Amino acid sequence: MLALYNVEVIYNNVILVLKGVSMEVRDAQIVSLLGANGAGKTTTLKAISGILGTELGEVSDGSVEWNGARIHRKSPEDIVSSGIAQVMEGRRSFQHLTTEENLKVGAYVRSDRAVKRDLDKVYDLFPKLKTLRNHTSGYLSGGEQQMMVIGRALMANPQLVLLDEPSLGLAPLIVTEIFQTVKSINEQEKTSFLIVEQNARAALGIAHYGFVMENGHIVLDGEAEKLSGNEDVREFYMGLGDLGQRKSYREVKHYKRRKRWLA
Ligand SMILES: Nc1ncnc2c1ncn2[C@@H]1O[C@H](COP(=O)(O)OP(=O)(O)OP(=O)(O)O)[C@@H](O)[C@H]1O
Ligand SMILES: [Mg+2]
Repeated sequence: MLALYNVEVIYNNVILVLKGVSMEVRDAQIVSLLGANGAGKTTTLKAISGILGTELGEVSDGSVEWNGARIHRKSPEDIVSSGIAQVMEGRRSFQHLTTEENLKVGAYVRSDRAVKRDLDKVYDLFPKLKTLRNHTSGYLSGGEQQMMVIGRALMANPQLVLLDEPSLGLAPLIVTEIFQTVKSINEQEKTSFLIVEQNARAALGIAHYGFVMENGHIVLDGEAEKLSGNEDVREFYMGLGDLGQRKSYREVKHYKRRKRWLA
């Protein structure tokens, strides 16, 4: 299980971005983390995966615990080896390498010899990747690249995968396909997922539990089904009002004053 206790993150010794975040991801659970731009979602994932240091950020208070051990002072390599893999925002890949070479990079932390078997597993999950195995990854479509970076994370044989905005810029059908695959990985392998998403509908659709973050605080959390029915979540993160119609951005802005959790 992953647990964050009152985590504060500060950048450049001055900018306090996470202001006491507590949350957990249980074994075999899919958790979604929702929130507006700049809320601190990516920072939360970086605090877990240990890559804040490269950006002059640090966990200045609180703790991140993984299977009972404190990990927020550990190196990113040690954290990956302990079973947490991160898929970064923006589908970063080694553009000049082929799809298969990219997937193999994900296995670098492993000492066992089951890499071939897991490569086949990734191709089973994403058959498209198999047909593209020898293609230069830089030419793959956005959806194919997203599949590849998720596949690459799976090659580390993780117990928990951190996914940062997998749906960004993808067509609805591809988003559905990717989320359904995440769901089946979770069901088959009992892998946990922490998914940061703007697409609340897609994320809550497969999640067991959800957290809503605003301005460095968790302002709301609950069972995914319950959150999907929450009026504020529906308005601010699904673009739906009480009557189920889509609201215009201007209306949403206007309604912002009504957020119950700020009252
Ligand atoms: N390396 C950094 N140095 C200084 N400030 C940073 C750094 N990275 C992020 N921030 C600031 O921290 C805040 C939270 O950023 P973060 O990327 O965690 O938000 P987010 O919720 O992921 O937003 P988005 O939905 O736009 O991706 C923002 O105000 C951002 O400007
Ligand atoms: Mg982000």
